[in-house]
Amino acid sequence: MIEITNFTKIIRGAAVLKNINLTLESGKIYGLWGKNGSGKTMLMRAICGLILPTEGYVSIDGERLGGKNSFPKSVGALIENPAFLDSKTGLENLLLLAEIKGEATKDDVVKALEKVGLEPHDRRKYRKYSLGMKQRLGIAAAIMEDPEILLLDEPFNALDPSGAEMAAEIIKEFKEKGATVVIACHDREELDNLADEIVRVEGGEVR
Ligand SMILES: Nc1ncnc2c1ncn2[C@@H]1O[C@H](COP(=O)(O)OP(=O)(O)OP(=O)(O)O)[C@@H](O)[C@H]1O
Ligand SMILES: [Mg+2]
Repeated sequence: MIEITNFTKIIRGAAVLKNINLTLESGKIYGLWGKNGSGKTMLMRAICGLILPTEGYVSIDGERLGGKNSFPKSVGALIENPAFLDSKTGLENLLLLAEIKGEATKDDVVKALEKVGLEPHDRRKYRKYSLGMKQRLGIAAAIMEDPEILLLDEPFNALDPSGAEMAAEIIKEFKEKGATVVIACHDREELDNLADEIVRVEGGEVR
């Protein structure tokens, strides 16, 4: 369970998140919904420890993020443009990322690629990937360690209908497994189809 308590983030004088209080349970899909610039991506960054609070805190299963607990123990995230290496293939990129934590095996990485509809042994370098292929690779990176918290910022961006179907299946599968899933999207219809709860974000506030 994720608990966000009185979370405020001020960047150079501007409050990008304002006193957020939110509890996110496992086995549920939360849909962050709001306009461009409303704070959806910032909220995702806060949940995975990528921004530090000016005030307040995030706790995961009762443990506060911060200090030596900088990041949630089990999180997979696709947030804006993932930093992949241009000169490496998709598989090589994911294997490099997998080395950081040493949790996902090569087999897990190959399975994640297959799941998002990428050919694991495609020799093309990342720089030759189409936009939709890049998005698929970003989703594969987020799921390859089978995280308990899955954060997908605009998961449907650049995906064709079969890709969108694939992403929706993955999101539902993680919910079934008991993960806490948070997706951000400005398309309300897409969110209504998937989310158990819609979290409306407006001007850095949750309503
Ligand atoms: N690196 C940054 N430094 C300072 N302010 C930022 C930074 N990134 C975003 N912001 C500001 O934080 C606010 C929230 O931005 P955020 O990216 O969370 O919006 P969003 O809801 O994800 O929008 P979109 O739908 O366009 O993705 C905006 O006012 C934005 O200008
Ligand atoms: Mg965003």
